[in-house]
Amino acid sequence: MLYLDHAATTPPRPEARAALSRWLDAANASSTHAAGQEARAVVEEAREQVATALRCSPHEVVFTAGGTEADNLAVKGIVWGARERSRGVPHLVVSAVEHAAVLDPARWLAGRGEATLTVVPPRGDGRVEVAAVLDAVRPDTALVSVMTANNELGAVNDVAGLAAALAERDVPVHTDAVQAVATLDVDVAAWGVAALALSAHKLGGPQGVGVAVLRRGVPVVPLLHGGGQDRGVRSGTFAAGLDAACGAALAAAVADRSALRSRLRMLSERLGVGLLAVDGVRRNGPADPAQRLASHVHLSLDGVASDALALALDRAGIAASSGAACGAGATKASHVLEAAGVMGTPLRLSLGWPSTEADVDRAIDVLTDVVPRLRRRAAAVTG
Ligand SMILES: Cc1ncc(COP(=O)(O)O)c(C=O)c1O
Repeated sequence: MLYLDHAATTPPRPEARAALSRWLDAANASSTHAAGQEARAVVEEAREQVATALRCSPHEVVFTAGGTEADNLAVKGIVWGARERSRGVPHLVVSAVEHAAVLDPARWLAGRGEATLTVVPPRGDGRVEVAAVLDAVRPDTALVSVMTANNELGAVNDVAGLAAALAERDVPVHTDAVQAVATLDVDVAAWGVAALALSAHKLGGPQGVGVAVLRRGVPVVPLLHGGGQDRGVRSGTFAAGLDAACGAALAAAVADRSALRSRLRMLSERLGVGLLAVDGVRRNGPADPAQRLASHVHLSLDGVASDALALALDRAGIAASSGAACGAGATKASHVLEAAGVMGTPLRLSLGWPSTEADVDRAIDVLTDVVPRLRRRAAAVTG
């Protein structure tokens, strides 16, 4: 199979596999016996690795069950924290291209009257303008959430610029960096964000573990109540094996990041150029490569049916993301593409650490053959 869906999940790196299998049968890290203390040391070492990689303090790292929980913890936890302090209904600002893990909790809070919500539309290339977000901020704004980079279009936002502008107004910023960490130099301290979410399985770690960075001084109400294991913010027995694998994957990803970024930039540009030579293919997202992730190529294919494309790619042995089919012959545009006004049948090809030049060349060959055939077929049906 030719795997071009690394933005959905990317295979674990060898370092992560080794750490997971080494610590899969770790003792309970809260136990006071020697085996428990050994497991605790594993968790704390992983926490240090995460803190070093993201440039924050280990005390600010909370392990979660993935990006979804980390986003929920930041959005709900910080809004609830603000509510407890002010006793009013806090205002929340999010971009319209956030992942559902941010948008849905934001809408859920607003639907219950626990927050008022402003959703900021993106530019046509999927980027969120700092000025548009600043316009939405009010004196009662308790949190702004803007993703570091978008999972579909690969558009990269100026999170550091946003956080700096909002620091003057004392408004905390949460950023969903799930798609960004593998190829962008994420720096919590330099950016000045209050919270950040990442997911291990997007950067070479296992599925089911992630991190919420919650900076000191930002009041957060927990989502999960129980033993209070992780800083009192997140209850549940420590997942020593998953945490160790997350730390190992992140350390390996950061060590390899600059080389990977250059390699993926070269590969994704080759892929983009090769596919733009096919009739009726357009590239979406920012025109400037510096403003899009090196891993993502998002295309619109004119005159091609989405379900036929998905089937043809599957038959050709290519795993890619070709738009969500929600019924026979019917497709539903994603909220991201709708917000950015992207037209045509979408196709996201995303590269990752195992991707090669041969993968890219094969994808170009297959799509150069498949797209015109699908277009002729669609024209025959509609004509
Ligand atoms: C931008 C973004 N945020 C959050 C998530 C959710 O992460 P997880 O799968 O670890 O829950 C994803 C995963 O698709 C994502 O792409």
